[in-house]
Amino acid sequence: MKNIVLAAGFLAFGGGAFAQDIPKADPATVEKYVQSIWSKASPEWQARVKLDETQRICSETNNTPSQAQFEAIIAREKASVAYPADGNVMGDWKRGMVVAQRGTGGQFSDAPGTYQGGNCFACHELTKEEVSYGTLGPSLLGYGKNRKFDPAEAKAAFAKIYNPHVVFPCSQMPRFGHTKFLTEEQIKDAVALLFSPDSPVNK
Ligand code: HEC
Repeated sequence: MKNIVLAAGFLAFGGGAFAQDIPKADPATVEKYVQSIWSKASPEWQARVKLDETQRICSETNNTPSQAQFEAIIAREKASVAYPADGNVMGDWKRGMVVAQRGTGGQFSDAPGTYQGGNCFACHELTKEEVSYGTLGPSLLGYGKNRKFDPAEAKAAFAKIYNPHVVFPCSQMPRFGHTKFLTEEQIKDAVALLFSPDSPVNK
């Protein structure tokens, strides 16, 4: 919600008004408006407009939760991580590269069955070859190598990709496993991309 108010404020400011002139939006009005935008969407999509407890706290505190909220988020989100039953978090880095490169799927304009990718490159540098990447997230170049290919670190990366709030409450990185956007196999493949010695990430 806050982002909408901020965006509106930014536009008004650009128009020559002063920040303090921006009328305060009643949260209930904003909420109703956002719901109305989604009124024609399927019930499944409408449900996604509702914030869960973690999202609510992050929105209300503008991503600066109190210490107690910070700890509560980590505890709650940690409980959501489902590790592979056999304990193996490493998949196939080549398939992981597809996960990292593809940003398709999950939009209501997508045909059913469209491949859902993790779009990691949109926020992270991962390889030296790829020059077009986003910088919202830190560079992951050499990620496994820098961690000595430690299996405990690979397991932590699985949890991170599954649900970033486990490590960094109010992270801007999507909760890929928690939301079931990526499958367990895709998350394992992304871990392999980060932790395989022969992956281009570690070259
Ligand atoms: C919308 C942007 C975004 C996308 C897409 C994204 N990330 Fe992130 N990621 C971030 C941000 C921001 C951080 C830093 C904050 C944090 O740790 O949560 C981060 C942190 C990380 C970290 C921890 C880095 C460290 O310092 O240890 C890993 C590992 C990671 N991302 C992997 C991935 C993988 C793999 C994908 C694709 C499946 C992905 N990310 C997709 C934004 C993103």
